[in-house]
Amino acid sequence: MTRANLSNSFKIDGKTGSSDIKVGGKLEDISIYSRDRHTVIITDSNVSGHYRDRFGNNEVITIKTGESIKTLQTLEYIYKQMIFFEVDRNSLIIAIGGGIVCDIAGFAASTFMRGLDFGFVATSLLAQVDASVGGKNGVNFDGFKNMIGVFQQPDFVICDLDLLDTLPERELKCGFSEVVKHALIADSNLFNYIESNCTNALGFDKEVIFRMVDDSIRLKSDIVNKDETERGERAKLNFGHTIGHALQYELGLNHGEAVSIGMVYASALSVIKGYHKREDHNRIIALLQNLGLPVDIDFDITEICKAVKRDKKRNQESIKFVLLNGIGDCRFENININELEKVLNDLRQFFEQ
Ligand SMILES: NC(=O)c1ccc[n+]([C@@H]2O[C@H](COP(=O)([O-])OP(=O)(O)OC[C@H]3O[C@@H](n4cnc5c(N)ncnc54)[C@H](O)[C@@H]3O)[C@@H](O)[C@H]2O)c1
Ligand SMILES: [Zn+2]
Repeated sequence: MTRANLSNSFKIDGKTGSSDIKVGGKLEDISIYSRDRHTVIITDSNVSGHYRDRFGNNEVITIKTGESIKTLQTLEYIYKQMIFFEVDRNSLIIAIGGGIVCDIAGFAASTFMRGLDFGFVATSLLAQVDASVGGKNGVNFDGFKNMIGVFQQPDFVICDLDLLDTLPERELKCGFSEVVKHALIADSNLFNYIESNCTNALGFDKEVIFRMVDDSIRLKSDIVNKDETERGERAKLNFGHTIGHALQYELGLNHGEAVSIGMVYASALSVIKGYHKREDHNRIIALLQNLGLPVDIDFDITEICKAVKRDKKRNQESIKFVLLNGIGDCRFENININELEKVLNDLRQFFEQ
């Protein structure tokens, strides 16, 4: 494949709107949507620092960075700025940023004046392969991740691969974590491809990154088209996230790093339960390590257990875990909340073997 044809389109048609997703689009394509329309851009200070001069003549709301700003306070600041810029029902909101900007701006646009049109330019790999697609928008609340939010599809998503040139390497690796998640739950070919192309992926090779984004969006948009509001199959995308979210909160890891360790634990639990082969578990660890992602960390089991129990995906007495049947196939398993501490202790022993 030559670089010239590194582009593809996807569509999500849901009850909460339709999204046109363009992989290989360009940041400047926002003018297609913003022409003749009062448009306000929401971005963060890092992305603004790199790309502000390419935002056109639109008004810009700039927020700070980091998971700790994904709050109602930031939302309040955005609403005030929207009022200042005289945003009305006909205005268009465009988020230009990573997953944090997309999640908050999507929520702000979905709720301001009962909902405005909005679209995303995803600027981090994690946002391109995951966060910008599927219509989940929201903020954290009182220590609970993504506790306040809505399902609302963005009208458009642009994934401009060239913007990744300025992404810090640590953030690129966090994006790899969600790509590996997609491969593990549903696509063994993608897993094999990443295994053979780790070095090129770390070198920002555009063909390899394109394949990762393209395959991830194909898989996620298929799942969202079948189960937009997570009544069933969409919950597969939470693989690695139950323990991952707890680690992210307790230890202050980045989302992708926490998910990487969470996936290793979920894979190990799948081996303990007899669903998944130890050799395949070892392949997963090797792949994550080759991509520069963490695969384990010291943590206090009781504290992580408490954090998992508070996770919003808890369902009365049990927690729905996503486990592997092998590379590229997964299943759900309810684990009783009272067994969780024992499960985490068994996992600790498994790793010490
Ligand atoms: N809505 C969903 O379905 C969904 C799915 C997965 C993750 N998420 C959420 O996404 C968030 C994580 O997203 P993220 O990893 O993109 O984090 P992020 O938005 O914090 O971006 C990572 C860092 O990279 C910087 N950055 C982004 N693009 C850049 C670029 N092109 N050049 C230079 N710097 C750039 C940002 O300023 C930030 O410092 C989490 O809050 C997670 O919960 C949401
Ligand atoms: Zn995630």
